[in-house]
Amino acid sequence: MNTLPGIQEVIIKGLFRDSKIIIGGSLDKLGKYIPKSNVIIITDERVHELYSSRFPAFPVISIKRGEESKNLGTIEFIYSKLLALNADRNTYVLGIGGGVVCDITGFVASTFLRGLKFGFVATTLLAQVDASLGGKNGVNFSGIKNIIGVFNQPELVICDHSLLKTLNEHEFLSGLGEVLKYGFIGDPEMLDYFKSGEFIGRADLKLIHELVVRSVHIKKSIVEKDEIETGERRLLNFGHTFGHAIESAHGLSHGMAVAYGMLAAIYISEREGYLSQEESNRARVIILKSGIIKGVKINLEKLQTQFMADKKRSGNFLYFVLLHSLGNAFSEKAEIGKVENWLADWVNWEDAFTLEKD
Ligand SMILES: NC(=O)c1ccc[n+]([C@@H]2O[C@H](COP(=O)([O-])OP(=O)(O)OC[C@H]3O[C@@H](n4cnc5c(N)ncnc54)[C@H](O)[C@@H]3O)[C@@H](O)[C@H]2O)c1
Ligand SMILES: [Zn+2]
Repeated sequence: MNTLPGIQEVIIKGLFRDSKIIIGGSLDKLGKYIPKSNVIIITDERVHELYSSRFPAFPVISIKRGEESKNLGTIEFIYSKLLALNADRNTYVLGIGGGVVCDITGFVASTFLRGLKFGFVATTLLAQVDASLGGKNGVNFSGIKNIIGVFNQPELVICDHSLLKTLNEHEFLSGLGEVLKYGFIGDPEMLDYFKSGEFIGRADLKLIHELVVRSVHIKKSIVEKDEIETGERRLLNFGHTFGHAIESAHGLSHGMAVAYGMLAAIYISEREGYLSQEESNRARVIILKSGIIKGVKINLEKLQTQFMADKKRSGNFLYFVLLHSLGNAFSEKAEIGKVENWLADWVNWEDAFTLEKD
């Protein structure tokens, strides 16, 4: 159960560059994949504290941990450090960290000197299945998530599962929320791992490897069809329209909030006549048994305010992702007012069942 699984290499084909994903790779064997010199590492203070002794011997720029760092101030700080380190057009920038480090590294590397080569070692489950993949890089601005950024594929992503052992449970479950999302939008067999209600442990490297491989394949297939999100890529937002509002309004981890958002989307899919009651019940049981959700009292008013704040710039319509069946998602263009009604209907309905278990 704890033996290390083999390495699996996956290529994500991008418009401007392909991305090589080494799933099951190791931080200790990085040297094989990156240049021998002129590399600068970007990491956060927590990953630095835990793993810097295993970093290759290159200069390190360390930023504060967490979402609060994902801003233009941090980008300026890193630009200054790059100047001080005499970075040039041949410098390779390596981000070692979770989604925040990946998003920041990709943005810095894409803009400094009009673009340097870059890669990631993804150190959280969320980064291994989602944030490191697909070429979206950016930062938050004026309280709005990911509003400044670029599409640009990393040359390399290493997913070293052994690093996940030091994640706290909260962070680990957050990543599992995204894994569950991939099951619902494109890999229904993967959902079987969740419905037993047994905790998927961080030490079960074989299972983690399997889940990461399957997730990477779904993300690859979607990104390759629609790299810059004009259609199919919207499916990756399953559970996210309300998930983002729940995350901000209730301070939940991203993946847990997305799990709530998926419950909502499943309810709406059934109510709108797209998903059978049987499939809807199945989907609901999978989420409730996954261990990702811990009962939270959802406050409708707070949620509505947050939702409307999130939607300020999207005009009168948004794309909401719904299910035809488990593994078969589609996005529907819906009027904001209609989506607001969906939110209220769901909270009122859900409240009677799960949300008051705190
Ligand atoms: N670009 C994309 O396509 C994309 C997709 C999904 C999410 N994201 C972004 O990813 C970010 C969330 O990513 P995240 O959940 O990885 O957050 P994170 O990078 O903030 O990491 C979470 C915490 O775990 C710590 N950590 C990282 N690796 C660790 C390890 N191995 N052991 C112990 N602690 C470790 C970090 O220091 C941090 O405190 C958000 O900003 C989100 O917007 C981007
Ligand atoms: Zn997400």
